[in-house]
Amino acid sequence: MEAAWQDVKRLGRAEGDEASVSGPERVYLTQAREYDRLIMAEDTDGNLERHMLESFDFHGKAVVDVGAGTGRLSRWIAPRADHVHLVDVAAPMLEVASETLDSMGLSGKVSIETADARALPLEDSSVDVAMAGWVYGHFRYWMPEGWEIMVDEAVSEMMRVTRPGGDLIVIETMGTGVEEPEAGPLDVYYERLEVHHGFARRVLRTDYLFASVEEAVEVMGVFFGEGMSEAIRLNDWTRVPECTAVFSRANA
Ligand SMILES: C[S@@+](CC[C@H](N)C(=O)[O-])C[C@H]1O[C@@H](n2cnc3c(N)ncnc32)[C@H](O)[C@@H]1O
Repeated sequence: MEAAWQDVKRLGRAEGDEASVSGPERVYLTQAREYDRLIMAEDTDGNLERHMLESFDFHGKAVVDVGAGTGRLSRWIAPRADHVHLVDVAAPMLEVASETLDSMGLSGKVSIETADARALPLEDSSVDVAMAGWVYGHFRYWMPEGWEIMVDEAVSEMMRVTRPGGDLIVIETMGTGVEEPEAGPLDVYYERLEVHHGFARRVLRTDYLFASVEEAVEVMGVFFGEGMSEAIRLNDWTRVPECTAVFSRANA
Protein backbone atom coordinates (compact mmCIF):
# COMPACT_ATOMS: atom_id res chain seq x y z
CA MET A 1 0.00 0.00 0.00
CA GLU A 2 2.84 2.37 0.85
CA ALA A 3 4.15 1.97 -2.68
CA ALA A 4 0.73 2.72 -4.13
CA TRP A 5 0.31 5.86 -2.04
CA GLN A 6 3.84 7.10 -2.82
CA ASP A 7 3.13 6.58 -6.47
CA VAL A 8 -0.03 8.69 -6.28
CA LYS A 9 1.53 11.28 -3.97
CA ARG A 10 4.64 11.82 -6.09
CA LEU A 11 2.75 12.50 -9.24
CA GLY A 12 3.23 15.95 -10.64
CA ARG A 13 6.02 16.77 -8.21
CA ALA A 14 9.75 17.14 -8.57
CA GLU A 15 11.79 14.34 -6.97
CA GLY A 16 12.76 15.28 -3.40
CA ASP A 17 10.08 17.94 -3.18
CA GLU A 18 8.52 16.39 -0.06
CA ALA A 19 7.84 19.83 1.40
CA SER A 20 5.04 20.15 -1.13
CA VAL A 21 3.26 17.15 0.37
CA SER A 22 0.64 19.25 2.01
CA GLY A 23 -3.04 19.98 1.81
CA PRO A 24 -5.27 16.96 1.32
CA GLU A 25 -2.51 14.33 1.27
CA ARG A 26 -1.19 15.47 4.63
CA VAL A 27 -4.70 15.35 6.05
CA TYR A 28 -5.28 11.81 4.74
CA LEU A 29 -2.01 10.57 6.23
CA THR A 30 -1.87 12.42 9.53
CA GLN A 31 -5.29 13.93 10.31
CA ALA A 32 -7.83 11.28 9.40
CA ARG A 33 -9.91 12.00 12.52
CA GLU A 34 -10.04 15.70 11.74
CA TYR A 35 -11.11 14.80 8.20
CA ASP A 36 -13.86 12.64 9.65
CA ARG A 37 -15.05 15.49 11.86
CA LEU A 38 -15.24 17.66 8.74
CA ILE A 39 -17.30 15.27 6.66
CA MET A 40 -19.64 14.53 9.57
CA ALA A 41 -20.64 18.20 9.43
CA GLU A 42 -21.40 18.06 5.70
CA ASP A 43 -24.76 17.39 4.04
CA THR A 44 -26.64 18.75 7.03
CA ASP A 45 -29.91 18.68 5.06
CA GLY A 46 -29.37 15.06 4.02
CA ASN A 47 -29.73 15.90 0.31
CA LEU A 48 -26.84 13.72 -0.81
CA GLU A 49 -27.67 10.78 1.44
CA ARG A 50 -31.30 10.89 0.26
CA HIS A 51 -30.27 11.14 -3.39
CA MET A 52 -27.92 8.17 -3.06
CA LEU A 53 -30.45 5.97 -1.30
CA GLU A 54 -33.41 6.92 -3.49
CA SER A 55 -31.71 7.03 -6.91
CA PHE A 56 -29.68 3.83 -6.69
CA ASP A 57 -30.65 0.38 -5.49
CA PHE A 58 -28.20 -0.90 -2.91
CA HIS A 59 -30.47 -3.56 -1.38
CA GLY A 60 -28.66 -6.90 -1.24
CA LYS A 61 -26.00 -5.57 -3.61
CA ALA A 62 -22.22 -5.94 -3.70
CA VAL A 63 -20.66 -2.49 -3.72
CA VAL A 64 -17.13 -1.09 -3.97
CA ASP A 65 -16.38 2.25 -2.29
CA VAL A 66 -13.28 3.52 -4.13
CA GLY A 67 -11.19 6.05 -2.19
CA ALA A 68 -13.50 5.24 0.71
CA GLY A 69 -11.61 7.41 3.20
CA THR A 70 -13.19 7.28 6.64
CA GLY A 71 -16.25 5.55 5.18
CA ARG A 72 -18.78 8.35 4.80
CA LEU A 73 -20.57 6.67 1.88
CA SER A 74 -20.18 3.14 3.24
CA ARG A 75 -21.97 4.15 6.46
CA TRP A 76 -25.07 4.96 4.42
CA ILE A 77 -24.84 2.05 2.04
CA ALA A 78 -23.64 -0.91 4.13
CA PRO A 79 -26.87 -1.30 6.18
CA ARG A 80 -28.75 -1.98 2.91
CA ALA A 81 -26.07 -3.72 0.85
CA ASP A 82 -25.05 -7.35 0.98
CA HIS A 83 -21.40 -6.31 1.15
CA VAL A 84 -19.27 -3.18 0.71
CA HIS A 85 -15.56 -3.30 -0.20
CA LEU A 86 -13.76 -0.19 0.99
CA VAL A 87 -10.56 0.61 -0.89
CA ASP A 88 -8.17 3.52 -0.31
CA VAL A 89 -4.45 4.29 -0.56
CA ALA A 90 -4.39 5.96 2.86
CA ALA A 91 -4.38 3.38 5.66
CA PRO A 92 -5.04 5.97 8.41
CA MET A 93 -8.31 6.92 6.73
CA LEU A 94 -9.37 3.27 6.52
CA GLU A 95 -8.56 2.74 10.20
CA VAL A 96 -11.14 5.37 11.13
CA ALA A 97 -13.62 3.81 8.69
CA SER A 98 -13.06 0.40 10.26
CA GLU A 99 -13.63 1.69 13.82
CA THR A 100 -16.79 3.52 12.83
CA LEU A 101 -18.28 0.65 10.85
CA ASP A 102 -17.46 -1.70 13.75
CA SER A 103 -19.22 0.61 16.18
CA MET A 104 -22.25 0.62 13.88
CA GLY A 105 -22.33 -3.20 13.99
CA LEU A 106 -21.47 -3.37 10.28
CA SER A 107 -18.09 -5.08 10.36
CA GLY A 108 -19.61 -8.32 9.01
CA LYS A 109 -20.83 -6.52 5.91
CA VAL A 110 -17.63 -4.80 4.87
CA SER A 111 -14.11 -5.64 3.77
CA ILE A 112 -11.39 -3.01 3.94
CA GLU A 113 -8.24 -2.94 1.86
CA THR A 114 -5.46 -0.49 1.04
CA ALA A 115 -5.10 -0.32 -2.74
CA ASP A 116 -4.97 2.11 -5.62
CA ALA A 117 -8.14 3.06 -7.46
CA ARG A 118 -6.29 2.25 -10.68
CA ALA A 119 -5.72 -1.39 -9.67
CA LEU A 120 -8.73 -2.49 -7.66
CA PRO A 121 -8.25 -5.80 -5.80
CA LEU A 122 -11.50 -7.24 -7.17
CA GLU A 123 -12.48 -9.74 -9.84
CA ASP A 124 -14.08 -8.68 -13.10
CA SER A 125 -17.86 -8.10 -12.82
CA SER A 126 -17.79 -8.86 -9.10
CA VAL A 127 -19.87 -5.91 -7.82
CA ASP A 128 -23.25 -4.38 -8.68
CA VAL A 129 -22.30 -0.80 -7.83
CA ALA A 130 -18.97 1.07 -7.93
CA MET A 131 -18.88 4.47 -6.24
CA ALA A 132 -16.04 6.95 -5.74
CA GLY A 133 -16.61 10.06 -3.63
CA TRP A 134 -14.28 13.05 -4.03
CA VAL A 135 -11.34 10.93 -5.22
CA TYR A 136 -10.38 11.38 -8.88
CA GLY A 137 -10.55 15.18 -8.75
CA HIS A 138 -7.23 15.00 -6.89
CA PHE A 139 -5.56 13.60 -9.99
CA ARG A 140 -6.17 16.88 -11.81
CA TYR A 141 -3.93 18.65 -9.24
CA TRP A 142 -1.45 15.86 -8.56
CA MET A 143 -0.70 15.35 -12.23
CA PRO A 144 -1.49 18.57 -14.09
CA GLU A 145 -0.10 17.03 -17.29
CA GLY A 146 -1.62 13.61 -17.90
CA TRP A 147 -4.35 13.56 -15.24
CA GLU A 148 -6.72 12.33 -17.94
CA ILE A 149 -4.83 9.04 -18.12
CA MET A 150 -5.26 8.52 -14.39
CA VAL A 151 -8.96 9.35 -14.50
CA ASP A 152 -9.46 7.03 -17.47
CA GLU A 153 -7.61 4.22 -15.68
CA ALA A 154 -9.71 4.68 -12.55
CA VAL A 155 -13.00 4.76 -14.50
CA SER A 156 -11.89 1.69 -16.47
CA GLU A 157 -11.29 -0.12 -13.19
CA MET A 158 -14.77 0.79 -11.96
CA MET A 159 -16.17 -0.57 -15.24
CA ARG A 160 -14.09 -3.75 -15.07
CA VAL A 161 -15.17 -4.74 -11.55
CA THR A 162 -18.85 -3.83 -12.03
CA ARG A 163 -21.25 -6.22 -13.73
CA PRO A 164 -22.87 -5.09 -17.00
CA GLY A 165 -25.88 -2.89 -16.20
CA GLY A 166 -24.59 -2.07 -12.70
CA ASP A 167 -24.24 1.50 -11.47
CA LEU A 168 -21.12 3.66 -11.68
CA ILE A 169 -21.22 6.70 -9.37
CA VAL A 170 -18.64 9.49 -9.04
CA ILE A 171 -19.24 12.28 -6.52
CA GLU A 172 -17.27 15.54 -6.64
CA THR A 173 -17.37 19.06 -5.27
CA MET A 174 -18.78 21.90 -7.34
CA GLY A 175 -17.52 24.50 -4.88
CA THR A 176 -17.10 25.15 -1.16
CA GLY A 177 -18.42 28.39 0.31
CA VAL A 178 -20.63 28.99 -2.74
CA GLU A 179 -24.39 28.73 -3.15
CA GLU A 180 -24.26 27.89 -6.87
CA PRO A 181 -21.86 25.59 -8.73
CA GLU A 182 -18.64 27.41 -9.38
CA ALA A 183 -16.45 27.26 -12.50
CA GLY A 184 -12.91 26.11 -11.74
CA PRO A 185 -9.94 23.91 -12.60
CA LEU A 186 -11.98 20.73 -12.19
CA ASP A 187 -14.37 21.65 -15.01
CA VAL A 188 -12.20 19.90 -17.62
CA TYR A 189 -12.33 16.75 -15.49
CA TYR A 190 -16.11 16.96 -15.15
CA GLU A 191 -16.36 17.43 -18.90
CA ARG A 192 -14.24 14.31 -19.36
CA LEU A 193 -16.59 12.30 -17.13
CA GLU A 194 -19.58 13.51 -19.14
CA VAL A 195 -18.31 13.68 -22.72
CA HIS A 196 -15.68 10.95 -22.77
CA HIS A 197 -17.19 8.54 -20.23
CA GLY A 198 -20.91 9.24 -20.63
CA PHE A 199 -21.78 10.16 -17.04
CA ALA A 200 -24.83 12.35 -16.32
CA ARG A 201 -24.56 15.09 -13.69
CA ARG A 202 -26.94 15.93 -10.86
CA VAL A 203 -26.04 18.90 -8.65
CA LEU A 204 -27.10 19.11 -4.99
CA ARG A 205 -26.45 21.40 -2.03
CA THR A 206 -24.49 19.63 0.72
CA ASP A 207 -23.96 22.49 3.19
CA TYR A 208 -21.88 22.07 6.34
CA LEU A 209 -23.39 23.01 9.71
CA PHE A 210 -21.41 23.88 12.85
CA ALA A 211 -22.34 24.91 16.39
CA SER A 212 -20.37 28.15 16.12
CA VAL A 213 -18.30 30.24 13.72
CA GLU A 214 -15.17 29.26 15.65
CA GLU A 215 -15.94 25.58 15.26
CA ALA A 216 -16.51 26.12 11.53
CA VAL A 217 -13.14 27.89 11.25
CA GLU A 218 -11.37 25.14 13.18
CA VAL A 219 -12.89 22.17 11.38
CA MET A 220 -12.99 23.58 7.85
CA GLY A 221 -9.55 25.20 8.17
CA VAL A 222 -7.78 21.84 8.58
CA PHE A 223 -8.74 20.78 5.08
CA PHE A 224 -9.46 23.99 3.17
CA GLY A 225 -6.81 26.28 4.65
CA GLU A 226 -6.64 29.88 5.77
CA GLY A 227 -8.57 31.31 2.79
CA MET A 228 -11.65 29.35 3.80
CA SER A 229 -11.21 30.27 7.47
CA GLU A 230 -11.17 33.95 6.48
CA ALA A 231 -14.29 33.55 4.35
CA ILE A 232 -16.08 31.88 7.28
CA ARG A 233 -15.17 34.70 9.65
CA LEU A 234 -16.02 37.38 7.10
CA ASN A 235 -19.46 35.87 6.43
CA ASP A 236 -20.04 34.87 10.05
CA TRP A 237 -20.93 31.39 8.77
CA THR A 238 -22.07 28.54 10.97
CA ARG A 239 -23.65 27.05 7.82
CA VAL A 240 -21.06 26.88 5.07
CA PRO A 241 -22.62 26.42 1.64
CA GLU A 242 -21.33 23.60 -0.54
CA CYS A 243 -22.37 22.38 -3.99
CA THR A 244 -21.80 18.76 -4.93
CA ALA A 245 -22.26 16.83 -8.17
CA VAL A 246 -23.26 13.20 -8.46
CA PHE A 247 -22.14 11.79 -11.82
CA SER A 248 -23.66 8.45 -12.70
CA ARG A 249 -24.25 6.00 -15.53
CA ALA A 250 -25.05 2.36 -16.04
CA ASN A 251 -22.09 0.13 -16.75
CA ALA A 252 -21.89 -1.08 -20.35
C1 LIG B 1 -11.68 13.68 -0.19
S1 LIG B 1 -11.29 12.07 0.41
C2 LIG B 1 -12.85 11.26 0.16
C3 LIG B 1 -13.03 10.12 1.10
C4 LIG B 1 -14.42 9.50 1.10
N1 LIG B 1 -14.78 8.98 -0.21
C5 LIG B 1 -15.48 10.45 1.59
O1 LIG B 1 -16.59 10.38 1.07
O2 LIG B 1 -15.25 11.24 2.50
C6 LIG B 1 -10.32 11.38 -0.91
C7 LIG B 1 -9.82 9.97 -0.61
O3 LIG B 1 -9.29 9.41 -1.83
C8 LIG B 1 -8.17 8.65 -1.50
N2 LIG B 1 -7.36 8.47 -2.72
C9 LIG B 1 -6.71 9.41 -3.42
N3 LIG B 1 -6.12 8.88 -4.48
C10 LIG B 1 -6.41 7.56 -4.47
C11 LIG B 1 -6.09 6.46 -5.31
N4 LIG B 1 -5.35 6.61 -6.39
N5 LIG B 1 -6.57 5.25 -4.99
C12 LIG B 1 -7.33 5.08 -3.88
N6 LIG B 1 -7.65 6.08 -3.04
C13 LIG B 1 -7.21 7.30 -3.34
C14 LIG B 1 -7.48 9.45 -0.41
O4 LIG B 1 -6.58 8.68 0.35
C15 LIG B 1 -8.69 9.92 0.41
O5 LIG B 1 -9.03 9.02 1.43
